[in-house]
This record gives sequence, C-alpha cells and structure tokens, in this order.
Amino acid sequence: MALRNIRIDGDPILRKRSREVKEINQRILDLIEDMKDTMYDAEGVGLAAPQVGILRRVVVIDIGEGPIIMINPEIKDQNGVQIEIEACLSVPDFSGTVKRPRQLSVEFLNEDGEKVVLDAEDLLARAVCHEIDHLDGILFKDKYIKEYIKKGDKFVEGSERIE
Ligand code: NI
Repeated sequence: MALRNIRIDGDPILRKRSREVKEINQRILDLIEDMKDTMYDAEGVGLAAPQVGILRRVVVIDIGEGPIIMINPEIKDQNGVQIEIEACLSVPDFSGTVKRPRQLSVEFLNEDGEKVVLDAEDLLARAVCHEIDHLDGILFKDKYIKEYIKKGDKFVEGSERIE
C-alpha cells in the first residue's frame, strides 16, 4: 500500500489542466493503485490524479459499490439538475451545495484500455462531474451555491456565496 500526499487548495497544481493518458503503462497502473489506497485511507468518494500531484486524466471513484477507474473520462450526455452538498479531500473543512446534472453518460478507458460507457445518476453523477472538474483545474468551491457546515453528523446552513 502506498499512500500519496493529497494536495490542498492553494497548491497551484490543483489549478492546472491534466493531460490525456496516451499509454496505460506501469507508471499509470501504479498511480491508479496508489490513488485507490489514498482515497480509501482518506475515506473519500473519489480522487483525481492532480490531487496527488500528477497532471494526468485519471480518476478513481467509489460511492460504496466498489472502485471505478476512469482514464480520459468525457461526459457525453447529461440530463436534469440536482443541487446537493459536496466536499473535497483537497478543500478540508468546507462543504457546499453545487448544481450538477441528475443523470449523465460518461465515456472512458478502463485499466485494460477498453472503452467503457457508464450511465450515472445522483451521487455517482455528482462524483463524476466533481472529479472531471479536478482534471480541468476546477474546484467545487469555485461554483458552490451555499455553504453547509458540518456539526457532528449533520449539516447546518452557512452563508451563500457572494460573487
Ligand atoms: Ni475533490
């Protein structure tokens, strides 16, 4: 198990665009394994490669149904709207609502280099959008609508964003 250091908001690498993966080599496979270890250790729902300092278009997500690895993910279709609370391992101690599509279709390569098209909704759709944003240097706090503050295991309303 190899844990990598999670980059925190303010680190300029989180603001850069990640490059496409051209070849799924051992370095990429090692990165994926380390990203899974790091995500589970931090009890996150998803992690994008730039969050561990690697500017490659690689994402791992687990909403409690097992890991999904996405290489070069692209959203192909989206429907509906949901506004739910998000958090991010790179933005500690902050949560806020974000507007996302309710359903989407995402195309990516798996670890074997096979093209996969996955239909996602609700939490999985949010996670896909949130992680792909990371690949483009976008953090959820850039687009949050209202802050929610965690008190114990509940969220209480905080302030709205002032543009
Ligand atoms: Ni995040």
